[in-house]
Amino acid sequence: MPVAYETLKERLRSEPRRWLVTGAAGFIGSALVETLLYLDQVVVGLDNLSTGHRANLEDVKRLVGNERWRSFDFVEGDIRDPEDCRRACDGADYVLHHAALGSVPRSIEDPVATNDSNVTGFLNTLVAARDAGVSRFVYAASSSTYGDHPGLPKVEDSIGRPLSPYAVTKYVNELYADVFARSYGMETVGLRYFNVFGRRQDPEGAYAAVIPRWFAALLRGEPCTINGDGETSRDFCYVGNAVQANLLAALTTDEAAVNQVYNVAYGERTTLNELFALVRDQVSKDRPEAADAEPVYRDFRPGDVRHSLADISKARDLLGYAPTHSVRDGLSEARVWYRDAMAP
Ligand SMILES: NC(=O)c1ccc[n+]([C@@H]2O[C@H](COP(=O)([O-])OP(=O)(O)OC[C@H]3O[C@@H](n4cnc5c(N)ncnc54)[C@H](O)[C@@H]3O)[C@@H](O)[C@H]2O)c1
Repeated sequence: MPVAYETLKERLRSEPRRWLVTGAAGFIGSALVETLLYLDQVVVGLDNLSTGHRANLEDVKRLVGNERWRSFDFVEGDIRDPEDCRRACDGADYVLHHAALGSVPRSIEDPVATNDSNVTGFLNTLVAARDAGVSRFVYAASSSTYGDHPGLPKVEDSIGRPLSPYAVTKYVNELYADVFARSYGMETVGLRYFNVFGRRQDPEGAYAAVIPRWFAALLRGEPCTINGDGETSRDFCYVGNAVQANLLAALTTDEAAVNQVYNVAYGERTTLNELFALVRDQVSKDRPEAADAEPVYRDFRPGDVRHSLADISKARDLLGYAPTHSVRDGLSEARVWYRDAMAP
């Protein structure tokens, strides 16, 4: 078990704080709520239920139990509305800002909607957090900020030009956070997530990520598609690792670690062909017919980078980040959840 994280969890249990998680009904947000409630924290969740679901919060309630659930308060609201942000930030010690419209293709189809939530909404939340005097503002940044930079592995200081409107919004988040640190003395930390996956990640809809989509398709006996030849690779990161990074970022007492951005990933590259085989192995445990499934290949998707891999040494050195789950471990944990969620 990673030392820094275990120590931090002990500290939190003995000194409960008040946390605001925006995007709480979404995939990563609900995982943060779940862990914080297990650690006996007081948590407020803000979400407009646009891509997130009440069912995710119901799932958390079932897992943590009624007693802990009493420490959770849900604000159904929109970060595009400054008053909702103000209401949600009231009294918060820490903000973990995860509300945003994800997906590169969605942003290409509707850049204005993505900008409204991801830039205007981000700024509203940052202002509300500043005015509420929160101790730290941790936010979801993105590996898409590396854009067309050819270097591998990706190192925080070397970014290229953004390849999508979504990537622009996530880079603007970093710029605003940096300026708020300098202009108002705020403490912020940005986490550049690399392809996070795990339970409660939405398998439905045109913008679903590849892992939940494949779990759902293989469980239902439907075809799985791969964009390109399958040798495209990504640094897939189990959500438990992302949760760890959030808590370390929120609570670090090292001044040098604050007002920084960090890669949050596992630090290994998996091709889509390898990933398909791993997901198929998992699903075959519950649905043996899936063992014979083969992917259907189609054209490369415009805007997709060929390879992505994170250098996670900055998070390791400054935050004590030590990912606990490999891709295989994470898929194995996600398996049972997808099986139950997809059950007819
Ligand atoms: N999942 C990944 O691999 C990944 C990678 C890079 C960055 N991120 C970022 O992490 C964060 C969480 O992503 P996720 O994968 O959990 O997505 P998600 O869609 O499951 O969660 C986002 C949540 O934000 C809510 N939301 C959206 N717009 C809102 C608004 N205007 N007001 C209030 N709530 C709003 C949605 O309803 C949803 O519950 C996002 O900021 C995303 O850009 C995710």
